[in-house]
Amino acid sequence: MLTRIAVLVSGGGTNLQALIDARRAGALPSGEIVLVISSRADAYALERAKSAGIESAVCKTEDEILALITEKKIDLIILAGYMSILSADFTARFPQRIINIHPSLIPAFCGKGYYGLHVHEAALSYGVKVTGATVHYVNEIPDGGKIILQKAVDVEPGDTPETLQQRVMRQAEWVILPRAAELCCAKIKKEREA
Ligand code: GRF
Repeated sequence: MLTRIAVLVSGGGTNLQALIDARRAGALPSGEIVLVISSRADAYALERAKSAGIESAVCKTEDEILALITEKKIDLIILAGYMSILSADFTARFPQRIINIHPSLIPAFCGKGYYGLHVHEAALSYGVKVTGATVHYVNEIPDGGKIILQKAVDVEPGDTPETLQQRVMRQAEWVILPRAAELCCAKIKKEREA
């Protein structure tokens, strides 16, 4: 039986699209995306879910998310550009079953206030020559869970936060999130079949 994935989104959904494309290409054989939950009704990620024939919902509270996760028998929750912080109560219910993609090489430029473009602004103002992305388990500490995969990306002369964000997404996020999803799905599947 395939590992059942719910993807939580808030924005453009390019990381969701990378997961959808990976599944189609056979690079996510152990899991299937059965649900997309958005914190915002205007998230383009919802269009991507619809085009892929994946059930979606807009949830404004954790209780709503919990009810859907339970009803749909979700095994793995993937935060992909999800902009709300999940409470310690919520994350404690799913130890090693929630993963997140963060657009830096944790422990650099992570934690409270480091999200979206702010991460790349901080990397550029610090003057790092290499940045990248991290997939990690989610616990009660923002961006504090065990690291699963990372991928480095060069900062180039003249980079703006936008050009750097695009390169990190294309060269790192969209590569390691599907890979990490498959690692986690295969592990969950193996545990279930043991
Ligand atoms: C990106 O900056 C990504 O690094 C972070 O959320 C933002 C939007 O991602 N995880 P997406 O296009 O909605 O997947």
